[in-house]
Amino acid sequence: MQLKDQVALVTGGGSGLGLAIVERFVEEGARVAIFDRSQERIDDAVKAFGDKVVGIAGDVRKVDDNNRAVAECVSAFGKLDTFVGNAGIWDYSKTMVSTEDDELSSAFDEMFAINVKGYVLGAKAALPELYKTKGHMIFTASNAAFYPGGGGVLYTATKHAVVGMIKQMAHEFAPHVRVNGVAPGGIGGSNLAGTSALSQEGIKFSDIPLDDLMKQMLPLERAFNAREYAGAYAFFANRRDNTPGTGAVLNFDGGIGMRGFGSPNMGAELVAKFGAI
Ligand SMILES: NC(=O)c1ccc[n+]([C@@H]2O[C@H](COP(=O)([O-])OP(=O)(O)OC[C@H]3O[C@@H](n4cnc5c(N)ncnc54)[C@H](O)[C@@H]3O)[C@@H](O)[C@H]2O)c1
Repeated sequence: MQLKDQVALVTGGGSGLGLAIVERFVEEGARVAIFDRSQERIDDAVKAFGDKVVGIAGDVRKVDDNNRAVAECVSAFGKLDTFVGNAGIWDYSKTMVSTEDDELSSAFDEMFAINVKGYVLGAKAALPELYKTKGHMIFTASNAAFYPGGGGVLYTATKHAVVGMIKQMAHEFAPHVRVNGVAPGGIGGSNLAGTSALSQEGIKFSDIPLDDLMKQMLPLERAFNAREYAGAYAFFANRRDNTPGTGAVLNFDGGIGMRGFGSPNMGAELVAKFGAI
């Protein structure tokens, strides 16, 4: 029970990675406030986790909703130890060339408002409570925070911005509140939504053949599901294992950057030498 007596607030906690983080935190003994724009997903989570969670429906783009989420978390559980900024959207890798000028402008605003402003407003709302508990902020970045090709220019720019945001907050809030990030790769079981500005409401993340793609692209040769990513958040949220860390972003993506100029399967040499297992 790494998170016994801990209280967390998870944005986008109603689905995909956020929901897996909630599940893992509850399993580790925490109580968790779920802040999501989908009331239906919140209701499902409350049904699943009972009085270990509380749900707040709202939009991470709004100052008042962020403040209300923190206030309701503290009113339900008495404090806040960990703020997890996680709610995000994707641009489904739409290229700049194929995007009309006016769409590009509104999609930029939408993408940055959720993926970056939502994190900044959430952090600002959580800060006074985290200061009291000497707490921790954890933000979901992405492989797109480090490498091109994990989205279009808008998504990639927002996730690179998240890394800068983490470093600046770590700098400003030390030594009182620590700020770290996790940069997952493709997530099995995600419902990651596209932008309204690019009319991507009808596209489903689950239609992407993630397993096949990741098998070809990753040195670790498979896709990873949301639960496999959630342990990294439990690592950053517990109060024992991460004390030297602030301003760190964990690349947790199946080794995307580890192929370099080598052969697509360097591990084959191991199999040749030691035999298959
Ligand atoms: N899916 C992937 O392959 C992948 C890969 C790397 C990083 N990520 C990142 O992981 C995070 C979680 O994504 P996911 O894949 O679990 O997606 P998801 O859509 O399954 O879950 C995101 C949740 O955020 C909520 N949300 C979206 N906009 C919101 C808003 N404005 N206000 C409040 N809630 C809002 C949604 O309702 C949803 O429940 C995102 O930051 C995403 O960029 C995802």
